[in-house]
Amino acid sequence: MHFFLLAGIVIFIAIVLILFSFTSSTASPIPYFPTNTRDMKKIIDLMDLKNDEVMIDFGAGDGGIIFRAAQRAYQHNQNTKFVAVEINTMLCFIMNLRRIFHLNRKNIYIVKHDMFVLDYPALIASLHLEKKPKLLFYLYISPWFMPQIGEMIKCLGYQSRAITYFYPIAGVKESRKYTFTNAVYSYNHLGNETQ
Ligand SMILES: C[S@@+](CC[C@H](N)C(=O)[O-])C[C@H]1O[C@@H](n2cnc3c(N)ncnc32)[C@H](O)[C@@H]1O
Repeated sequence: MHFFLLAGIVIFIAIVLILFSFTSSTASPIPYFPTNTRDMKKIIDLMDLKNDEVMIDFGAGDGGIIFRAAQRAYQHNQNTKFVAVEINTMLCFIMNLRRIFHLNRKNIYIVKHDMFVLDYPALIASLHLEKKPKLLFYLYISPWFMPQIGEMIKCLGYQSRAITYFYPIAGVKESRKYTFTNAVYSYNHLGNETQ
């Protein structure tokens, strides 16, 4: 009896600590908060993904957005690639599990890495695409990281678009702002292609 009580308390504390590590800004400067499910379909409509594009979710969480977008591409018979960059081991584990059961799994890549120091050209080269792709970034991260990420995207040398949730990219004029449950900003020309 005591054993089960003790085991229950340990499991409860472990769950609380895991949840705390997801949502605490002390544990991570960009805590885990998923995009509101009521906004997801509208955001995926806005993405308007095409063949030969690569969508990259910077801090993909449990994959809520990227798996739905990949589902849409599968239904439309598109070859769009989906890259989920996430630093949290537990969230990567959840995404890897979800990927196993996803119909479009061959086009989904889960990368456990710090989004700020990832070698994106090497990552894109590893996708073995026939031509240089256009990129679409999805961003739901803390506002003070937005300028840094905006600069990073501009410097990559790919023709890029971005959609941001909640926060705009400071210093960059959005193409459009939408007010769903929360604000959504779209940027149609964030980066330019270089040779
Ligand atoms: C606000 S959540 C957004 C989750 C998901 N994109 C969504 O919209 O549902 C931010 C995510 O970024 C991840 N993250 C924080 N810092 C990161 C970093 N340096 N590199 C990669 N991911 C990071 C967090 O673990 C968290 O899952």
